[in-house]
Amino acid sequence: MTLEMIFEMISRAFLLMLPAYVSSPGAVISHGKIPVDMKKNFFDGKRIFGDGKTIGGLFIGTILGFLAGVAVHFALRATFPGIYGGFLNIGLISFGGLFGDLMNSFIKRRVNIERGGKLPVLDQLNVVFGSWLLCFIFSRKWFLESFTLPIAIIVLIITPILHRIANIIAYKIKLKDVPW
Ligand code: CTP
Ligand code: MG
Repeated sequence: MTLEMIFEMISRAFLLMLPAYVSSPGAVISHGKIPVDMKKNFFDGKRIFGDGKTIGGLFIGTILGFLAGVAVHFALRATFPGIYGGFLNIGLISFGGLFGDLMNSFIKRRVNIERGGKLPVLDQLNVVFGSWLLCFIFSRKWFLESFTLPIAIIVLIITPILHRIANIIAYKIKLKDVPW
């Protein structure tokens, strides 16, 4: 395997996940107000998702992630022809990332981690698991063809790194109160 092939695979892994890498920070800048759980509690008396997950965040984030994927689709169709296999898949990756983030908050509330608290590993990878799950359910053939084992491994390695960098930047420009 040549160095060029390795760079090609890292680029492909990054581009495949890009809609999710954009939808998550997209939700953060949305300034959404209405919580997805409408302030309701779960059976355990704790919030379903908490105030950090808003409807506006889901909408704005999904749209921004979708637009990023569409831009890549057109801008790079010579280098990565048909990388997303269709616009539906771009939407699945974009929304799936936020779906994973929502599930992460659901789990956090169940184990008594308050809004903004840390849950190692899942905090870094919920976006990946969420988009993979939705792609696996709704677009399995394309998902299995695109996320080959090497590509999936690259995604699992680069996502926590990108997550860390993004959160440090968000903290420094005062978008977030904590650097995680
Ligand atoms: N956000 C939002 N809607 C979403 C996701 C995020 O409005 N669906 C915004 C919220 O203002 C949130 C901020 O982005 O506080 C940071 O997102 P995140 O770190 O995921 O949420 P936390 O506030 O840390 O809450 P949690 O502990 O539930 O993850
Ligand atoms: Mg957080």
